[in-house]
Formats: sequence, structure tokens, C-alpha cells
Amino acid sequence: MNVALLHPGDMGVTVGETLKASGHSVRWFSRDRSADTRIRAESAGFSGCETPAELFSGLDALVSVCPPGAALEQARWVRNSGYSGPYLDANAVSPATARAISEVAGPQFVDGGIIGPPARQPGTTRLYLSGPAAEQAAAWFSAGPLEAIAVGADPASASALKMCYAAYTKGLSALLLNVRALAEAESVTPALLEEWSLSQAGLAQRSELTARGTAGKAWRFVDEMLEIAATFEACGLPGGFHRSAADVYQRMAPLKAVADPNLDDVLQYLLNGDR
Ligand SMILES: NC(=O)c1ccc[n+]([C@@H]2O[C@H](COP(=O)([O-])OP(=O)(O)OC[C@H]3O[C@@H](n4cnc5c(N)ncnc54)[C@H](OP(=O)(O)O)[C@@H]3O)[C@@H](O)[C@H]2O)c1
Repeated sequence: MNVALLHPGDMGVTVGETLKASGHSVRWFSRDRSADTRIRAESAGFSGCETPAELFSGLDALVSVCPPGAALEQARWVRNSGYSGPYLDANAVSPATARAISEVAGPQFVDGGIIGPPARQPGTTRLYLSGPAAEQAAAWFSAGPLEAIAVGADPASASALKMCYAAYTKGLSALLLNVRALAEAESVTPALLEEWSLSQAGLAQRSELTARGTAGKAWRFVDEMLEIAATFEACGLPGGFHRSAADVYQRMAPLKAVADPNLDDVLQYLLNGDR
């Protein structure tokens, strides 16, 4: 198949590489994209398209892997460009947003949710798929490190699964970093670390690793936390925890521009913002 990948980000490029390893030709759309995305796409050997006409000509399937806050707008742009074929949205969005994307994308929509780091080796990363065409879409990923798993016919189940998973992992990360900032504000960090060493083995090191692992991506987690909050609230459950997690990540968002940020950088932004 000819598959369009919008866009080859850190995760997206590995989704495209699995498509390529599975025998498909992968193309990407270069307009408005950064040098980083261009370098990733060209290194992976994807075909660059400069115009929508080039992108959509003879296209068999489209895979969307972009910041969650841009997923619906991107689906609208694709539909307005005249494409209505198979559309796999693999972004971290709520079931409600997945349904909204489905309405825009049309009857060949497939819902997706990715769990794990960018898929550079087998066994690390899974792409969950749902909707009437989920089984067919799973077959697009027959080789390569990303494992595709169909989880049912409901066109929002894959997103629901992703929301549940990230609610715990990224919610917990935000809580842990906020606790480190609180201890700093109250000048009890040494005492807290001492107590953790007695009763919460490994938590101090985990908070440092969490800071390094999330700082550069926090800007993207803001919308993901809001999607998670909306998912809880749509089921009558409290969403405030993840609204606060969005606030934590919003304060950390400027760290996208800081080289190799660590816990000290995170604490500075949590406590002082970028003032
Ligand atoms: N990275 C992970 O470990 C991971 C894990 C699980 C799930 N995911 C999911 O995968 C998706 C993308 O992740 P990623 O790691 O590939 O992100 P990323 O590295 O930040 O890349 C995002 C890609 O989307 C493009 N982009 C930026 N702003 C955009 C906009 N407003 N509209 C359309 N495209 C835009 C970027 O282009 P520019 O370079 O021009 O900015 C880049 O090519 C998200 O939904 C995320 O939740 C990622």
C-alpha cells in the first residue's frame, strides 16, 4: 500500500518504519514541519510530499501520529483535502475526541492508541486498534518492531485503553514531581528523601529519572492530561486530578527548549514558572 504518515515525530517515525518493514511505501507531508521531522523522515527513507495533491494521489491509507491537541484539526484538514479512505488515528485522545475524529474521517476510520516508547526494537511498544476495520489495519503492521493488536469493534476502545494507561503513568509522574516541588518550597527535601530511603525505596531516584524523562515532552502531555480528565468526567468520575496534572506539565512546557533538563530545572519551572 501507499501510506501517508502525519507526521514522523519521535514515535511517528517508528510507526512508519514498521509500515515500511511490512512492505508498504511510506510518504510524509513536509509543509510546516521542522528540520527535526525532516531529518527523521529522510533518514527513514520516507517519500517527501510538498503539496496535498502529491500527498493524496494514489493513497491507500493514512496514519495520524501527532500531538493529541492537533489530532482533530488534522483530520479536518485531511477530509477537506478530499481524502476519505482508511484513516488510522493513533493519538492519545479521549474516546469522545476519537468519535469526533471518526465522524470527520468517515466510515473507514480506525481508532488507535500507542503504549510504550518509540518502537526501535521488538517487544517494547504496542499499537492497540479498535473499530470495525481494526483487524484489517492490524495486518498493515505485519513486520517490524511495533506490535499491532486489535481490541474490538468499538471505534473508541483503543483510545479508552490508552487513556486508562496514561492516566496512571503520566498522572503519577506529575504527582511525584509536584511533591518534590512542594518539599522544596517547604524546605523539607532532605528530611523527605531520608524518610523515602527508609520507607519508599527507590522513590528519590525515580523522581530524578521521571524529571529527565518527562521534561522535554511535558508540553505535549498538557493536552493528553486534559483528554484524560474529560474521559473520567464523561464516565461520571472525578477529572480534577488530571486537570492538575495538566497544570504541572504546563509549567514544565518551556523545558522543551532546554538542553538535557534535570530535576533541578523541573523544580525551578514548577516553583517559579519561567519568570
Ligand atoms: N513519544 C512517545 O514515547 C509516545 C508514546 C506513546 C504514544 N505517543 C503518541 O504519539 C503521538 C506523537 O508522539 P511523537 O513522540 O511522535 O511526538 P513528537 O516527537 O513531538 O512529534 C510530533 C510530530 O507532529 C508534528 N506536529 C507538531 N505540531 C503539530 C501540529 N500542530 N499539527 C500537526 N502536527 C504537528 C511534529 O512536527 P514538527 O517537528 O514540525 O514540530 C512532529 O513531526 C502523540 O499522540 C503521543 O501521545 C508517543
